[in-house]
Amino acid sequence: MSVKPLRVGLAGIGTVGGGTWTVLNRNADEIRRRAGRPIQITAVADLDQAKARALTGGQVRFVPDAMALARDPEIDVVIELIGGYGFAKDFVLEAIRNGKHVVTANKALLATHGNEIFALAQQKGVMVAFEAAVAGGIPIIKALREGLTANKIEWVAGIINGTTNFILSEMRDKGLAFDVVLKEAQRLGYAEADPTFDIEGVDAAHKATIMAAIAFGIPMQFDAAHIEGISKLQAKDIAYAEQLGYRIKLLGITKRHANGVELRVHPTLISSKKLIANVEGAMNAVWVKGDAVGHTMYYGKGAGAEPTASAVIADLVDVARMLTADPANRVPYLAFQPDQMAALSVVPIAQVQSCYYLRLRVKDQPGVLADITRVLADGQISIDMFFQREPDEDLHETDVVLITHLCLEQDMRAAIGRIEQLPTVLGQAVMLRMETFA
Ligand code: NDP
Ligand code: HSE
Repeated sequence: MSVKPLRVGLAGIGTVGGGTWTVLNRNADEIRRRAGRPIQITAVADLDQAKARALTGGQVRFVPDAMALARDPEIDVVIELIGGYGFAKDFVLEAIRNGKHVVTANKALLATHGNEIFALAQQKGVMVAFEAAVAGGIPIIKALREGLTANKIEWVAGIINGTTNFILSEMRDKGLAFDVVLKEAQRLGYAEADPTFDIEGVDAAHKATIMAAIAFGIPMQFDAAHIEGISKLQAKDIAYAEQLGYRIKLLGITKRHANGVELRVHPTLISSKKLIANVEGAMNAVWVKGDAVGHTMYYGKGAGAEPTASAVIADLVDVARMLTADPANRVPYLAFQPDQMAALSVVPIAQVQSCYYLRLRVKDQPGVLADITRVLADGQISIDMFFQREPDEDLHETDVVLITHLCLEQDMRAAIGRIEQLPTVLGQAVMLRMETFA
């Protein structure tokens, strides 16, 4: 007996859409054997018809207006690979209203409008699958939502933006300039349509927001995330960190506390002995601490056409397998049953505890270090490590670098304010956070 194929409408055939078409066709037989039915893209929509024809060879229907896919009674599932939260949001909501299941890689859309999208999807009894939205080809959504379901998850920390990890790696390894490496990341298809989302940490914050929601069973709270990117990071600090035994990575971090959750993205010093510090290039890694399982880590390609397509197609297979299941028996969108979500809000960054790296430009004269350490001691901040560069003989200035033990961010900022007032300290301090993952 032949089983009806899953009929798919693909919207957006850029990097990920193109990869999805290619992999789905190349591995059609293998995928059918897993899904229990063929998965067929029956129509594609894009702004560029010539691109569609070049990709599909005219084998499937081309639709100039993607919205037609959302309303097409001959389509069971739409894949949204357009990006952004303008048209893509209207498209996804329209597809759900029309009873279509949705697969999307669009983390920006889910982090900012996910609460609305999932509420409508639940009302309509349709699936919204988003494995590709976090860490590209790494099945981290599956791991957090299903594999670790026995655990009380304590924290999740990850290198979840391939573009910035690629930039940091190339700058450190090859001494290449920021702009040169960014252009290469764009050429390789890693970067977002607007690369400031990558560089300024926004893309990583979208992904961290989604992981926090499914790790702790909380609504999406992107607006409350603390976000710092790598655009202000200086080569000097990457080099000093290395001399002290650390690498600097852009991490997305979310931690659970009794009174709330931390949700933050920023450049972070990590001991170079840690596995995650050695994740290089466009590779991603997500480190999860659960109370039962302990530490687990997931590593792989976080961006690019086929790695991301791998996740998109895994979602299609899930949809095919769960098509006839009662919606109440499917895996909940955000891992927890919708009526069991927790009301934990995001803790302000001032209340977060961390260790800190400080770089200060100081006059090379007696008493400077005593003044700085006195301010820190007055603020109950203890120093873990200290390093002074060879003084610049002509200028009579030098860099002082120190790493503190754990303290509250508000205390650290208050101390920095006082240190910057010292007559021997020149200019502004550079402050970076450090994680030990103890
Ligand atoms: P691209 O820009 O390469 O592709 C988007 C495609 O959508 C383009 O072909 C674009 O056409 C088309 N498009 C734009 N507007 C419309 C519209 N109104 N109707 C139909 N088609 C439209 O993006 P990516 O493939 O890189 O990214 C797609 C999504 O996947 C994004 O949400 C992104 O964040 C996410 N993602 C991307 C990853 C990657 O490695 N690239 C990894 C993980 C997730 P045109 O070019 O003519 O404007
Ligand atoms: N721009 C993203 C990155 C794509 O560089 O990681 C994958 O989400």
